[in-house]
Amino acid sequence: MKENIITNISKLTILKLGGSVITTKDSFFTPNKKAIIRLAEEIARSDVKSLIIVHGGGSFGHPVAKQYKINKGYKDSSQIIGFSKTHQAMTTLNKLIMDSLIGQNIPAIEIQPSSCMITKSGRIQVMEQRPLTKLLRMGFVPVLYGDAVLDADTGFAILSGDQLVSTLAIQLNARHIIIGTDVDGICTADPKIDLSAKLIHHISLSELKKLQPNVGKAKVTDVTGGMFGKIIELIPAIEQKIKVIIVNAAKSNNVYKALKGEKVVGTIINKGVENGAKPN
Ligand code: IPE
Repeated sequence: MKENIITNISKLTILKLGGSVITTKDSFFTPNKKAIIRLAEEIARSDVKSLIIVHGGGSFGHPVAKQYKINKGYKDSSQIIGFSKTHQAMTTLNKLIMDSLIGQNIPAIEIQPSSCMITKSGRIQVMEQRPLTKLLRMGFVPVLYGDAVLDADTGFAILSGDQLVSTLAIQLNARHIIIGTDVDGICTADPKIDLSAKLIHHISLSELKKLQPNVGKAKVTDVTGGMFGKIIELIPAIEQKIKVIIVNAAKSNNVYKALKGEKVVGTIINKGVENGAKPN
């Protein structure tokens, strides 16, 4: 292997594409193809060199996982086929993402979490990361997703894309995390129900912890906790001083700008921000 094709992964970016953006969350198995194609184009145009993409389940993984209670762990053998169907739903969605990324000449390779990770009571316990780091060093863009995984205590569990993002960022010492969701960022109240909600541009970890009860709970089927669940998952990475940027990926060019490090409407979360939360 020649040195010159090995990419430096010290500037690793981890990008989450939320299920609410890449699918229509309230209608079963419906991809948002326009958004998927646009996001692949934005990622290609940004030309970021060291990148991992993680996507969510939206109307693919969540309803099936809920139907078979996969997130409650193994209770009886009738759930076994549900585990297969949940994983299949995710690979079906993943195929659409992969086609769009590779269609834009992004050297994307999917990694199935169910094949290389085991959780213990829902938390990642085993993660085989050698193929992942080798792929990154060679310049590939690994693509992972929230998935049904085997669990050491409960038989199986749903591993959210957000837990994956946070764990990968810590273990691979990422420079930053970009969360692409369907709201502009963290607001002073839930913007989907409260019109007076204001976007917070910068927030420190301690301010974030105080704000948690105000962060919206998902209104549609979400077995992994909506925005509230996302924020909780990100805390361990923020504790490690990894910068998190939340942007509205449903709006054109936000993901592009965040990847390029340009100014973008959204919420930046740092371990410490001297002035605390700043509403718009
Ligand atoms: C959920 O992943 C995956 C499954 C339900 C199998 P996420 O929790 O990351 O998905 P979104 O982004 O909220 O849809």
